[in-house]
Order: sequence, then C-alpha cells, then structure tokens
Amino acid sequence: MTINWAQCHTRPVLMIPGPTELPFPVIQAMNQPPTIQYDRSFDEQVLEPTTLALRQVFQTQKEVILLPGSGRTALEAGALSVIEPGDRVLVIGAGQFGVLMREIMNRVGADWTEFPVELGARLDLDRLAREAERIRPKAITLVHNETSTGTTYPGAEVGRIAHAVDALYLLDTVSSIAGIDVRTDEWGVDLNMTGSQKCLAAPLGLALVSVSPRAFATMEHRKRAASSLVYDLLRWRDLWVPVSRGGKVPDGSPRRQPVSIPTHLTSAMRAAVGLILEEGLPHRFRRHAVAGAAIRRGVAAMGLEMFPDASIFSNTVSCVKTPKNIEPGAVVARMRDQYGILIGTGLDKMRTTTLRIGTMAMTASPHYVLPTLSALELTLRDLGHKCEPGAGVAAAQAAFADAV
Ligand SMILES: Cc1ncc(COP(=O)(O)O)c(C=O)c1O
Repeated sequence: MTINWAQCHTRPVLMIPGPTELPFPVIQAMNQPPTIQYDRSFDEQVLEPTTLALRQVFQTQKEVILLPGSGRTALEAGALSVIEPGDRVLVIGAGQFGVLMREIMNRVGADWTEFPVELGARLDLDRLAREAERIRPKAITLVHNETSTGTTYPGAEVGRIAHAVDALYLLDTVSSIAGIDVRTDEWGVDLNMTGSQKCLAAPLGLALVSVSPRAFATMEHRKRAASSLVYDLLRWRDLWVPVSRGGKVPDGSPRRQPVSIPTHLTSAMRAAVGLILEEGLPHRFRRHAVAGAAIRRGVAAMGLEMFPDASIFSNTVSCVKTPKNIEPGAVVARMRDQYGILIGTGLDKMRTTTLRIGTMAMTASPHYVLPTLSALELTLRDLGHKCEPGAGVAAAQAAFADAV
C-alpha cells in the first residue's frame, strides 16, 4: 500500500512566498466577536498602538498608514497619491513585481521609463545613476525583494541615487519587511509600501504605507486632488494624523476613519507586531538569513541550481531551477498532495523552469526548512531525479548548526 503522508494533515504547510504560516497568538487575536471600528476604544487600544509599533518595524519615525487591502493596495495608494498625469517616473523592472509597478504607474498616467534589469541579475547602479540624471524623474521605484526571481536589490544605494536627482523614492517591501533589513528613514524612503501576509506574519488583508514629510508635501502641492477618494493618502493624513504630527486632527480628539478599518485584522496585526518586537529585528533578520542559506545549501546538495546571481540571493524567497525533464507544476502538486507541504512554481516566463520556496516569519526556522527539503527530495525522487537520500536535509542541518 502506498502511504499518503499528507492525509493526516488538514491543510498543507505554507512554504510559498506568502501568505505564510501564522503564529498561534495571531490566529487567536482574531477569535473574538465584532467590535465597532469607529469606537474610540478600538482606536486608542488597538489601532493607534499598532500603527505606532509598526514604525519600529519600518525603522521610521514617520507616519505608518494601515489600509484594508493587500500589497497592491499599498503600491497603488502610494503611486496615485504622489504622481500626477504626465509626471516622469523611473521604474526599476527586475521581475514580475517591477512590471506590476509599471502597470500601476501606467494607470495613474505617469510618463514612465523602465530601467530593465535582466531576470535574476544585479542592478547596475552606475547606469541607473546616469539614467536618473538624464530623465530627472519625479520618482524612482524599486522592488526591494523581487519575489518572482528570489533576489534582493540594494535599497540604500537606490535611495541615494533618487535623492541625488531630487526624486521621491518609492519602495515595494512586500516580501522583505520584517524579514530583511529595511531602513526606511536611513535610506530616505518616501513611500515604503507593503502588505500584511508575508514576513510580518499577519493575515492577508492589510496594506501598509509609511509616508515621509517630503511625500506629504508633494501631495499638498498637487495641481489636482488625487482621483481616488479612498486611497488618497493626503486625505488619510488629514483625517488620521493629529495636528502635533502634521495632520489636521486636533490632538486628543477622536478621529474619523478614512474607510472602515477591519477590526479583526488590526487585532491580529497588533499581535504580529508584538511578536516581531519581542523577538527583536536583528535576531529576526539573522534568522531569515540562516534559514535562506540553509535552503540554498540543501538544494545544492540535491544537485539543484539556484536561479539568480549568487550575490543577490534573497533570504525570504529561494528561486530554484528544476532538473531538466521535471515540471515545476508536477513537483508542487506532488509535494502538496503526497507530503503536505506547499511550495510555489516560478511566475510567468519562469513558471515552467523554477520553483520558489518561502522562508518567512515562522517558516524561517529548522522546524519548517528541514521537512520542506525532505519533502522536496522525496518528491523529486518520486519524479525520477537521482540524488543521495537525505543529502539536502543534512546540508541544511549543517547550515543551521554552523550558525549557532
Ligand atoms: C514584491 C511584491 N510586490 C507586490 C506584491 C503584490 O502584493 P499582494 O499580493 O499583497 O497584492 C507581491 C505579492 O507577492 C510581491 O511579492
């Protein structure tokens, strides 16, 4: 009889690059009856403490705005708030999420120029600086961690280039914040845009944006108000931020919500942020770095190759080439159905040649990485790939041991 090892589990373990596994206290935080989103007690006891705590995760002293939605909501809200039709924008495109940013800029009517980067390749900073100088854009956008290729791009350096040409710096940190060091203020990020469901380890459903005073000033000086009422971040500031912090809400008075804020998700986010701060950012980043390295050593020991340039490997998403003659889709299906662990295929052009494994929040640990490598190896063996039994797990175990 063939044993199905997934049978006894009620759900697959999420080793995809988000949404990721949730810590139990985060799940528990949602197990409550509805509260009224406009009740002052919700604002004072949950919402405001959560957004203030998020500043530490963003490494910013500036406002962090929390909207219902996902990463894309944050990207679009940021873009439509600062960009007016005809504004020049330089979009760094190193994968699917660079393309997404380009599409958003297209929708808001930007006069965008793409700075293309070959998939998985390094960013040529000198050439970017020359292009920024030539175009003199109002904004430069970067996807810090390109989830489609498993690469991390240099957030600080691109920030310097943006500031040198007096451009706003818009950074997508959807798959890096709380897993890889993101220094919002130090790097001069004007809009740091992200979502709740990856390394923050909160449920899917919240978009987060930190906004610099320079970005708010740009919004104030628009020729026309942003075309969206709901996602106009200037309206959020006016309704949300007290006068003492540059907004329009008299200090100590109740504030109105720009849209109804999901109370359960905010409670879950409060729990998630609490856990992140309790762990401490340096520990958390190191944990992700070791887990990412363990995945890489594990897959190498199985005879697999990583997709990207080795100098820009991401610690939260590993993009691995599949052996010739083995379909990524078949690996994902077999691993999920037979061994109960879900990883992802590549996206778009890379769908038929690569796999993507997330190491995010809880899953950046031996507890998740070792079983994943074990299941990957069993799956590949089932599909005809030959490798030394246990080699991947042994190599990853050594990576964890070396890190101690
Ligand atoms: C780098 C990056 N940007 C943007 C997005 C889109 O975010 P969401 O799916 O939360 O809308 C994703 C999602 O995977 C992402 O990885």
